[in-house]
Amino acid sequence: MSEFAELSLGDKKYQFPVITGSEDEKAIDIAKLRDETGHITIDSGYKNTGATKSAITFLDGELGILRYRGYSIEELAEKASFLEVAYLLIYGELPTTTQYAEFENAIKTHTIVNEDMRKIFEGFPVNAHPMGVLSAMVCAMSAFYTGDKSGSDELNIIRLMAKMPSMATWSYKKSQGHPVNYPNNSLDYCSNFLNMMFALPVATYQVNPVVAAALNKLLILHADHEQNCSTSTVRLVGSSHASLYASISAGINALSGPLHGGANQEVIEMLEAIKEDGGDTSKYIAMAKDKNSGFRLMGFGHRVYKNFDPRARIIKKAADDVLAALGINDPVLKIAAELESAALNDEYFVARKLYPNVDFYSGIIYRALGIPTDMFTVMFAIGRLPGWIAQWKEMKANKEPIGRPRQVYVGATERAYVAINERA
Ligand code: CMC
Repeated sequence: MSEFAELSLGDKKYQFPVITGSEDEKAIDIAKLRDETGHITIDSGYKNTGATKSAITFLDGELGILRYRGYSIEELAEKASFLEVAYLLIYGELPTTTQYAEFENAIKTHTIVNEDMRKIFEGFPVNAHPMGVLSAMVCAMSAFYTGDKSGSDELNIIRLMAKMPSMATWSYKKSQGHPVNYPNNSLDYCSNFLNMMFALPVATYQVNPVVAAALNKLLILHADHEQNCSTSTVRLVGSSHASLYASISAGINALSGPLHGGANQEVIEMLEAIKEDGGDTSKYIAMAKDKNSGFRLMGFGHRVYKNFDPRARIIKKAADDVLAALGINDPVLKIAAELESAALNDEYFVARKLYPNVDFYSGIIYRALGIPTDMFTVMFAIGRLPGWIAQWKEMKANKEPIGRPRQVYVGATERAYVAINERA
C-alpha cells in the first residue's frame, strides 16, 4: 500500500488505501471498512462520498473548472456542436467527420415516435407539467422496446437521443391546442427541435440561426456534471440492471426537483414575482437570509462550486448577446443583475460562498428563444441526456455492483406485539 489513511478505533488501528485520480483528487478506499471494523460511515447527502471512479467529467469546485473528457467547457461551448459533445461524452473521443455523419444519420433514422406512444401522450391533461409527461413517455419506451424489438444498448442510446426532443415538443404543442409537428430530418439537431416546437402548418417557419446557436450552447453547458442527484439516480437505477429507458426516466424525475434542474423555472418565476412586487431586490435578499421565511434565492449556491460556476459565466454573457441579437429588452434581466450584485456584496452570501449557478441566467435565454417557463427543465433534460447515457454506459462497462447504501438504525428496539383491544 503506497499511501494509506489510518483509523483508530478503541485500541486498534486500521489502514485503508488512498486512491489518487488523474487530476490528483484523493479518496480513502473504505471498501473493507465494515468487514474489518464492524463500522460503516454516515454521510447524509453524500457530501463526502465518492460513489464511483469515472473518466467522463472532471470538475474542480474551488477553481471553477469543468471539463468533459478533458476538454474545457469554455472551449466546447464556443466551438463544438451539441451532437459532437454528445458523441464525446458517450463514446469517449470527439468524432471524426465520418463518425459524426454516422452518428447524426443514425439519430435521424429514429426521430419518429411510435404513433401508439402518441395515444398514451394524448391521455395527459392539457396543463400537465411537461417534466412529468417526459419522464412517463421515456419510461413508456421501455414497454415499446422489449423482446425482439429491444435491440442493443447502442440502438437504445440512439433511439433516446432521437426521440426525446420529438416527445418534448408535444407538451408545448398540446398546451397551445396545436397539432404536433413531425421531425424534419433535413435540419440539424437543434433546428429540428425548434421547428417541431414552433412551426405551424399554416405558415412557413424559418429557424433563426441566432436562436439555434444559443440553444446549441445551452445544451452543451448542461450535457454532463458528474455525480449530481439525477446522474447518481440514473447510475443507481441502472445498477439493478433496469433498462436504459427506466434509468433515464428516473433521472428525469430527479432533475425535476426545484433544488436541482427545476431551479431554472423557479428562477424566472422568482424574478417575475420580484418585478410584480415593485422590483425591490433588497426585500428578497433579506428574505433569503431569514431562515424562517422558507425562501431561498433560486439560481444561487451549489453543492460543489464554491467560487463560481463556470457555466453561469458563459450563460450570463450568452444572455446579453442573445437578447441584443434578438432586440429583446427583458426587464427581469435588470432585476437578475441587481440581485446578483447585491448578493455578491452581502456578508451572508459571501460567507457561505453562494454564487449564481447555471440556472440563474439560463431561463432568461430560454424565454428569449420563445420557450415557455414550464418547459425550461425539459430543456435541461434534453441537454443532460448524453451525460446520463454516458454515465449509465460507464457504470455497465465497469460492471459496478448494485447500489445499496446502509443506514444507522435509530428506531424502536425489539418489543412484543400487543393485541388491538389491549393497546392503550
Ligand atoms: N439562498 C439562501 N441561502 C442559501 C441558498 C440560497 N439559494 N443556498 C444555500 N443557502 C444557505 C443555506 O441555508 C445554508 O446556510 P446555513 O449554513 O446558515 O445553514 C448554507 O447556505 C449551505 O446550504 P446547503 O443547503 O447546506 O448547501 P447544499 O450544498 O446542500 O445545497 C443547493 C446546494 C444548490 C441545493 C442550494 O444552494 C440551493 O438550494 N440553491 C437554490 C436552488 C438552486 O438554484 N438549485 C440549482 C443548483 S445548480 C443546477 C443543478 O446542477 O442542479
